[in-house]
Amino acid sequence: MRPYTILNAAMTLDGKIATRTGSSKISNKKDIERVHKLRRELDGIMVGVGTILIDNPKLTAHKLPNEDIFTHERSMKKLNPTRVVVDSRGRTPFNSNVLNSDAETIIATSNKILENEESLSLLKKKADVFICGESEVDLKKLMEYLYHNGIKTLMLEGGSTLNFSMFKEDLVDEVRVCIGPVIVGGDQSKTLVDGDGFDFMESGVQLIMKNSYLLNECLILEYTVKK
Ligand SMILES: NC(=O)c1ccc[n+]([C@@H]2O[C@H](COP(=O)([O-])OP(=O)(O)OC[C@H]3O[C@@H](n4cnc5c(N)ncnc54)[C@H](OP(=O)(O)O)[C@@H]3O)[C@@H](O)[C@H]2O)c1
Repeated sequence: MRPYTILNAAMTLDGKIATRTGSSKISNKKDIERVHKLRRELDGIMVGVGTILIDNPKLTAHKLPNEDIFTHERSMKKLNPTRVVVDSRGRTPFNSNVLNSDAETIIATSNKILENEESLSLLKKKADVFICGESEVDLKKLMEYLYHNGIKTLMLEGGSTLNFSMFKEDLVDEVRVCIGPVIVGGDQSKTLVDGDGFDFMESGVQLIMKNSYLLNECLILEYTVKK
């Protein structure tokens, strides 16, 4: 058993989720509200360590307009999804925002972290450290672990390397993208899905479009993954 997983991302019209310098502000206020509402509805939110090192995100859910919750730390912890970082060598900085006390955090790592005892013991102070895989995180084992620890629904928030591995292992159920009205180009810019890629169109991930709508100047597209 594994969590029902929704990949969510904002991308440019030319499919980039960040420029080569790591600049990644693409969507608008309304889309950010959509993302935070979705975060609140799901049990977990997962990113790769590349995203932590570049963006240093908090990965929490903001208070929405007209909501009078989030008044103290306990209610914040309950409402925020559990954060999951895929980090095979323990590179998540000890002072990164994802390790703050606003929500639970799981660092999913591999046996490689055993070569770095200091990092392992520091991360254990702030997060649940789950070791699976030899040199990179075994995503199938991680998904089982998350499911058995109460994460039945999961948002995958990138980046492009982790997105590819999740597709390759057939662990994604839905894709939701916000397309911003901008083009940045660049063969070093991250796209929605990078990694090795699939060799043929027929072996690519086949999608069924479920919905499309505008949020001001941004286009939202929602697909399910054909199984
Ligand atoms: N626009 C958006 O919606 C959006 C959302 C998220 C991110 N981003 C952008 O995406 C960029 C980061 O993407 P990225 O591709 O560099 O990094 P990433 O996908 O966030 O993280 C990739 C890293 O995860 C680790 N990892 C461990 N096990 C893995 C496995 N089984 N499969 C894949 N990765 C595994 C690897 O590092 P180790 O080997 O060290 O463990 C790998 O290099 C940033 O620029 C960020 O701004 C944009």
